[in-house]
Amino acid sequence: MYVCLCKGVTDKTIRRAVDDGLSSMRELRQQYGVGTQCGCCTQCAKSIVKDAVAER
Ligand code: FES
Repeated sequence: MYVCLCKGVTDKTIRRAVDDGLSSMRELRQQYGVGTQCGCCTQCAKSIVKDAVAER
């Protein structure tokens, strides 16, 4: 499912990025631009990063 429509980033992409070492919303924003346009996705993206890091 798309988490960030503005940047076309899916939950799968976020989970894969966390598997590859990403560990915070800040990094996700810097590397994928998630939350840098309308900002609607920020809370959702943050919780996916948090869950994925916890499952790592
Ligand atoms: Fe992510 Fe707009 S949906 S910045």
